[in-house]
Amino acid sequence: MRKSTKNKLVKKAFEALRYSYSPYSKYAVGCALLSSDGRVFTGCNIENSSYSLTICAERVALFKAISEGATQFVAICVATNTENPPSMCGACRQALIEFSRNVVVIYASKIGVKTSNLQRLLPEPFLLQ
Ligand code: THU
Repeated sequence: MRKSTKNKLVKKAFEALRYSYSPYSKYAVGCALLSSDGRVFTGCNIENSSYSLTICAERVALFKAISEGATQFVAICVATNTENPPSMCGACRQALIEFSRNVVVIYASKIGVKTSNLQRLLPEPFLLQ
């Protein structure tokens, strides 16, 4: 993946983080998801006073993408304003791998950027097809 593409995703994930609604955890997350057709879908975490209704930034971006016809993904960037790098939760890994197994995962935080991939983060996923 091009460095300029990676930088663009990091920038967009941090932009999305500004819209995070996280008054309960005070842990703001932003996400930028690149689809195979070149579009970038962003998301932020959205919490709720009924805590279990909270949705992660990654699934907001993913569901926006699916609902707009993008079903194949190249890369995802998850950003937080913390010292510790973020990590995509298990539910989001499972939700994303349903659509694409080979996705570059970029984690961005105050200390910098680190890269992984979805297959490494979720080996032996549950898939019906
Ligand atoms: N969160 C995300 O948005 N993405 C993750 O991968 C992990 C957790 C959110 C959910 C909740 O609003 C806050 O972070 C604390 O768990």
